[in-house]
Amino acid sequence: MNSEQLRAATFVRHVEIHDELDSTSTRAAELAREISIELPALVVARRQMAGRGRSGKSWWSAEGALTFSLLIEPAAMRIGTSDWPRLSLTTAVAVCDGLRPEVPQSKLGIKWPNDVYLDNRKVGGILIESPGGAAPAKDRLVIGIGINVNNSLRSAPLDVNANGTSLCDVIDRRLDLQELLVRLLHAFVARSNHLSTLNTELISTWRQLDVLAGRNILLEADGQTIDGNCVEIAHDGALVVDNSSGRRRFYSGSVRMA
Ligand code: BTN
Repeated sequence: MNSEQLRAATFVRHVEIHDELDSTSTRAAELAREISIELPALVVARRQMAGRGRSGKSWWSAEGALTFSLLIEPAAMRIGTSDWPRLSLTTAVAVCDGLRPEVPQSKLGIKWPNDVYLDNRKVGGILIESPGGAAPAKDRLVIGIGINVNNSLRSAPLDVNANGTSLCDVIDRRLDLQELLVRLLHAFVARSNHLSTLNTELISTWRQLDVLAGRNILLEADGQTIDGNCVEIAHDGALVVDNSSGRRRFYSGSVRMA
């Protein structure tokens, strides 16, 4: 990978490419505290030693995975705070857009709110974090994206291998990580431009990609486990679930397919 090429080909203004980092999102959160940093910033690592996933879980990846974090100032991209709940879903759609030239749309999916699926297994995940604290960090967001690309999951730990997959395991060839990253960044800009307008094409794409619609699910949300049937992802990004107590909408949570 080449940082000058990435800057020239995309919207990112600050690029760091590391051979090894604990977590690209931890590094991006450090950068968020620097007032003079040019944004958007991109942090890429060839190997992550302590990648982080949602709900305090770790994110396993090996060399050949595409692991990166984007540091953005949402307001500068016309993404308002009311759009933030839809940002992980929109990013997941952008990841699918970036993967589409390599795999047929029918093999791709999104598991609400932030997992990207390939052939019914998780191929990528998205972690959106607010660095918090004082200005300027509090007005910035870190979007961490991990995709299994050239790292076969056949040799991954059992729990990762059981539900996960990698592009090379499905398409049986390696991809150029920089080319894929450029495509993903272009797709991210294109999709996030439509986030605040509740664009109908964006909404219909996440509905087409939704792997949960019509399935029985167990949803951990608000300290409860809800056993229900998933109806759809609503236009505002909420997961709509039916169960014995009626129809409810959720804006965050973690889902297992029953
Ligand atoms: C999840 O599925 O729970 C989200 C996984 C997010 C992993 C990516 S890899 C790049 C960035 N750095 C991290 O430490 N995590 C995210």
